[in-house]
Amino acid sequence: MKRIDLVVGARPNFIKAFPVYHALERTGQFSLRLINTGQHYDENMVAVFFKHLKMKEPDINLGIGSGRQGEQTGRILKAIEKVFIDSRPDLVMVFGDVNSTLAAALAAAKLHIPVAHVEAGLRSFDRSMPEEINRVLTDQISDLLFITSPEAEDNLLKEGRDKNQIHFVGNTMIDSLIRFQPLFDSTHIKDACGLQDKEYILITLHRPSNVDDPANLEQLITSLNRVAEIAPCLWPVHPRTRKKVKTIQAKTHDRLVMTDPLGYLEFMGLQRDATMVITDSGGVQEESTFFGVPCLTVRDNTERPITIEKGSNRLVGTQYSNLPDAVMASLEENTKAKTPELWDGKSSERIASVLMNYLS
Ligand code: UD1
Ligand code: UDP
Repeated sequence: MKRIDLVVGARPNFIKAFPVYHALERTGQFSLRLINTGQHYDENMVAVFFKHLKMKEPDINLGIGSGRQGEQTGRILKAIEKVFIDSRPDLVMVFGDVNSTLAAALAAAKLHIPVAHVEAGLRSFDRSMPEEINRVLTDQISDLLFITSPEAEDNLLKEGRDKNQIHFVGNTMIDSLIRFQPLFDSTHIKDACGLQDKEYILITLHRPSNVDDPANLEQLITSLNRVAEIAPCLWPVHPRTRKKVKTIQAKTHDRLVMTDPLGYLEFMGLQRDATMVITDSGGVQEESTFFGVPCLTVRDNTERPITIEKGSNRLVGTQYSNLPDAVMASLEENTKAKTPELWDGKSSERIASVLMNYLS
């Protein structure tokens, strides 16, 4: 049997990778290993996703943890190279755009092991984002490029990639959404916070450009306090953001409720039932598009333009003082979102069938 290593490490990786693992497993054609780099490690960033997405424990845990960009990427590269040398797979699969993605792809490519990149070709064209560097470099050294939307193909062709390497399969994050949708449930959180369906705003923010600079973060929270005057807000706070919030003396409005990061099933229930989401997350832009829930993205650009063209996503920029007006405007708008092509819950099966062909 051909051997495939799937490499995960950060919260969004788990949601994108697990349906692919299950689809490959169902073929009965491959020997699979799940390798967790340990880029994320808190229980509510990792273990809860394994539980909610019904995934077995990883075969290998590298336990890398946090660090500066180069330091973290370098530690993963060094550790995973050893794993690949000790027991060489026939193919390595990487997901998304996090440091674990690039490090694993680089280690495999230098050992001449074919690399498959799930979610290839997305571009914000903003190289101040660590993710954009990870995307561009991972795509350059990948052999198979699985894309979620048609414009990704144009981006890859412009960067000199071969059309034969590109496979439009859809979005594996939406595979997880569709499969687990019947289990989404946020009743206890809504009850505890007194939230009514379609009357509250769900917030997630963790981009370094929004949260790392304390003065910037203070301005952002000031704006969110004004948003809370319009509608109650629930903000599950990413650990990166939490660390920064602790360093400032920000006062929060009574209706701006901050919680720890939430498990997948609770978070998705909250997202589905929200009147709106405010975010800088890649995944939330996509999921809200699928739900047709209006999404205000607090960024100047997005690598996911399909969520604006087809979906309910709007870029509101990083002039945070504009946020309350954008919320008011969005509440008055009648949002019409269409599900992007091939976001149908079958993307992982398409990937499995490409791989059966490729590795046969
Ligand atoms: C990473 C990804 C980002 C992705 C996000 C998903 C990169 C460059 N960034 O950002 O693209 O959107 O994951 O959530 O790969 N921390 C904890 N506990 C944890 C994890 C992190 O306390 O379990 C704290 C640490 O202080 C750490 C900081 O969060 O230094 C940042 O973590 P890191 O993995 O470097 O980047 P993220 O901001 O999580
Ligand atoms: N998510 C979650 N609980 C939370 C916040 C996010 O389950 O408290 C899920 C949600 O499905 C989201 C995904 O984690 O799409 C991706 O995480 P994140 O926003 O951290 O990463 P990004 O997509 O920006 O890389």
